[in-house]
Amino acid sequence: MKSKRVQIFDTTLRDGEQCPGASMNLREKLEVARQLERLKVDVIEAGFPVISDGDFTAVETIAKELKGPIIAGLARCVSGDIDAAGAAVKPAGKRGRIHVFLATSKIHREFKLGKAEDEIIRLAVKGVKQAKSYVDDVEFSPEDASRTEPDYLVRVCQAAVDAGATTVNIPDTVGWAVPNEFETLIQTLHDSVKEFQTGQAIISVHCHNDLGLAVANSLAAVRAGARQVECTINGIGERAGNAALEEIVMALNTRKDVFRGFKCGVSSKEIVRTSRLVSRMSGLNVQRSKAIVGENAFAHSSGIHQDGILKKRETYEIVDPVKVGWGKTELPLTKHSGRAAVSSRLKHLGFKMSDDDVNAIFARFKEIGDKKKFVYDDDLSALVEGHIMVVPEIWVLDYLSVSSGSTTVPTATVRLTKSGTKKNQKPVAVQDAGVGDGPVDAALKAIDRLTDVRGRLKDFSLRGVSQGKDALGEVTIKADFGDGELLTGRGASTDIIEASAKAYLNAVNRFLSAEKRQAPKKKKRVRK
Ligand code: KIV
Ligand code: ZN
Repeated sequence: MKSKRVQIFDTTLRDGEQCPGASMNLREKLEVARQLERLKVDVIEAGFPVISDGDFTAVETIAKELKGPIIAGLARCVSGDIDAAGAAVKPAGKRGRIHVFLATSKIHREFKLGKAEDEIIRLAVKGVKQAKSYVDDVEFSPEDASRTEPDYLVRVCQAAVDAGATTVNIPDTVGWAVPNEFETLIQTLHDSVKEFQTGQAIISVHCHNDLGLAVANSLAAVRAGARQVECTINGIGERAGNAALEEIVMALNTRKDVFRGFKCGVSSKEIVRTSRLVSRMSGLNVQRSKAIVGENAFAHSSGIHQDGILKKRETYEIVDPVKVGWGKTELPLTKHSGRAAVSSRLKHLGFKMSDDDVNAIFARFKEIGDKKKFVYDDDLSALVEGHIMVVPEIWVLDYLSVSSGSTTVPTATVRLTKSGTKKNQKPVAVQDAGVGDGPVDAALKAIDRLTDVRGRLKDFSLRGVSQGKDALGEVTIKADFGDGELLTGRGASTDIIEASAKAYLNAVNRFLSAEKRQAPKKKKRVRK
């Protein structure tokens, strides 16, 4: 009997990162990858190695560091792309996968590629064979498959399998499909390619959410024979995003009556933690009413519902929140807690930290402990994530004083230190003042003058990290520094104006950092 194990292929670090403003640096990607390993996904698509040095290094580093999941690198059916992907996934050894793709739909054939059907099959076969010279595990995607003529798609899939692809992914690239139609398509492919029936090759699906149907389409495909689902944490991705991993996994787990016998290996209790980490690292907030991971997903406000829940939880809750990682936090730490207690709580939270990292977090913990009574797990996670999002601290906030009120012109005095950029060069402190429409605007204007960088604020959000009036306020901003790319900045403090200034400075530093300047997207690199 054909196995009912559904592999979870996470593409948060590739398709998810293609979401505008979601780009992450190496350390951030590595931390997300480690958490995905704890979540026990089967495959991590870690990037598109040919696209930039940054992507290449991220895939290579993740392939080197992680020991559990399969690590995939994306490549077009272009020789240089496949060489780069082969080199990047090499450290994963047998767990390395190359994922090659080529568009097959009529509209892409005619307008994007200018190639005929047979030529596309020839290139796909060539790409798969070249990938096969690097790894045994090759996945092929006919891009825009859901808008490809089904008969032609069968020919493409058969040719890819004959060339050695062990997974054929059927992308609904533009979110065009609807569930019953997509189920029929997958059933047709399954019935037409013998290797999909014998399990020598598996069908994967990759659905986008342009009509809000990505999860529904993915689940319909599973019923028709797909055995791998490509998805992202929180559903982030190109345009309206990809199918949300947490929704796919919990639908399979919760509706066992419909998905009888289907299993996936994901450790569901890690879902909420993963969602929060990805949200922080990508700078993309999760909407409150988002299924499974939104703040309101398990909040019951109506009296009738609350009464029902108290009598029997299942009256209004179909998923046990504890099973996806919502739940009681441990006893909070206080300023009296020592380094050992902080270090052990960090381990418990799943962070793998060096002694230097723990020392840095402990110093920040002490500062916070002086300002607030209890330091909760969420506060600690925010400190760690702030530390991980290491953007070179070219400019550091030294001092901030604001004056504002209903009858005063909001004014901010800011002192920054610029770290020495050359050896033995001493840090320089500079000070200026700015006025603005409010205290945050005034502080940001002063920072612009001091750093000589002009950022346009495109998004600003504030959230309380933990409970209580003394909760840390975490500000996330997205700013455009003139090149059209949205950069994320984040800062946390018990003072929200200070958190805003830190968040903006974090984005300024990201803009100025060498990594950002030297690894422009679209720069082609090839390594053998
Ligand atoms: O949406 C898409 O078609 C893709 C492919 C590269 C699989 O992301
Ligand atoms: Zn995609």
